[in-house]
Amino acid sequence: MSRSFETFVLFGATGDLAQRMLFPSLYNLSCDGLLPAKFRIIASARSAIDTDGFRSQVHVSLQSLELYDADKAATFLDRIEYCAVSSDNPNDFNNLAEKAAPFKDGGIAFYLSTPPGLFAPVVAGLESVNLTGPLTRIAMEKPIGHDLPSSREVNAAVGQSFDEENIFRVDHYLGKETVQNLLVLRFGNTMFEPLWNATSIEHVQITVAETVGLEGRVSYYDGVGALSDMVQNHMLQLLALVAMEPPASYTATAIRDEKVKVLRSLRPLNNGDAATHSVKGQYTAGAIDGQPVVGYADELGGKSNTETFVAVKAHLDNWRWRGVPFYLRTGKRLPTRHSEILIQFRPVPHSIFSPRGTGLEPNALVIRLQPHEGIGLQIMTKEPGLDREGIELANVGLDVSLATTFAGKRRRIAYERLLLDLLEGDTTLFVRRDEIEAAWTWVDSIHTAWKSAGINAKPYTAGSWGPSAAMGMIERDGASWHD
Ligand code: BG6
Repeated sequence: MSRSFETFVLFGATGDLAQRMLFPSLYNLSCDGLLPAKFRIIASARSAIDTDGFRSQVHVSLQSLELYDADKAATFLDRIEYCAVSSDNPNDFNNLAEKAAPFKDGGIAFYLSTPPGLFAPVVAGLESVNLTGPLTRIAMEKPIGHDLPSSREVNAAVGQSFDEENIFRVDHYLGKETVQNLLVLRFGNTMFEPLWNATSIEHVQITVAETVGLEGRVSYYDGVGALSDMVQNHMLQLLALVAMEPPASYTATAIRDEKVKVLRSLRPLNNGDAATHSVKGQYTAGAIDGQPVVGYADELGGKSNTETFVAVKAHLDNWRWRGVPFYLRTGKRLPTRHSEILIQFRPVPHSIFSPRGTGLEPNALVIRLQPHEGIGLQIMTKEPGLDREGIELANVGLDVSLATTFAGKRRRIAYERLLLDLLEGDTTLFVRRDEIEAAWTWVDSIHTAWKSAGINAKPYTAGSWGPSAAMGMIERDGASWHD
């Protein structure tokens, strides 16, 4: 681990992500003594406010935290200085340089929590005032582009001023404990890996279900949709971690080399398969937890073909996963907030338990990511009793709740891990340029197939599990979604 950088410059500091996640995460790190003694934050956004006004804003977002303490908060807020920057105003970058340049020797990490259109202008601004070069790093929130060509443009623009090892493309799913735990489950145990292939696994399901709707993000979300917002990044990262070959070590290069091989083996969707291998949906008015909610079009204030739900049947063209479908499903306004990965094993080749043994079900491993992190293994057991007509079978779960097992441990915000790694220069949990581009290549094939096949968003009632076509897609293969 290299020495931790001492200066953190945040663009988009008044935004929702900064206030809800980034400042709280930095505060928690500071309470745990994980930030360098000389750590300072230069917060920047367009608003013309002063440092005191900005600190008061941040203070509000700290007050609801588990670790909140007035004295610790005051010490933390003292580290923050505000600097108004408009990306199109060269003078603003001069002001920023005045504040930041004296600390360059201690290392500066820039964090772009801005609309993606500002990535290139901000990097050009930093370059113009000599705030790039050795001892600087840059982190960027998704989306990196909206398709392969545009992601290449962003990567090229940022790559002109920062070396790849100093570019930290954020996918906050990689900061989640259970997502990292996937690697431990696979490569810290001997029992799964010999079965982790097409011989033993029938299919894989990855579900990320949300109850929320647009949450005021209308201008960002419409035209982007669930495929680009969730599948291109979070879900493909999960898929890559599930499907990758064992890396030789827990290091950035080894892990990212293996992930990119998976992403490159995703079979592009053919136009002819668009209707059978994918489903695009959009919620209409309904109810979540018994509370009525309006439909997407009403939230938006007009008609749109943007999908708030997507289900895709993906295939990996490689030896390990030949013929194994990966069913991905994500949506907004679904009945519960629930993310999980299901590994469905194949049935036993022959049942010795007939005729009563018709209840024999194949094993399944369920990795629950949120809200209740845990691991469950479905296995067959004998139902107790004196069965005279053959053994009666029962499918039971061996279940580990991570919250209960590690009850004394604080559950961290995913960004705590990521910000610490950024300051310490560890890119393992960040997405490399080639991964982003491989992911867009596949997602672009779906967008193209949807367009050529004239696939429109099918309505689903808010509070349901998406359009019925999503059930049809998996049921045609003799499987069903694990709800
Ligand atoms: C973001 C998406 O990246 O992830 C949002 O832009 C989505 O639309 C969010 O709601 C989900 O993150 P989490 O951590 O709540 O599952």
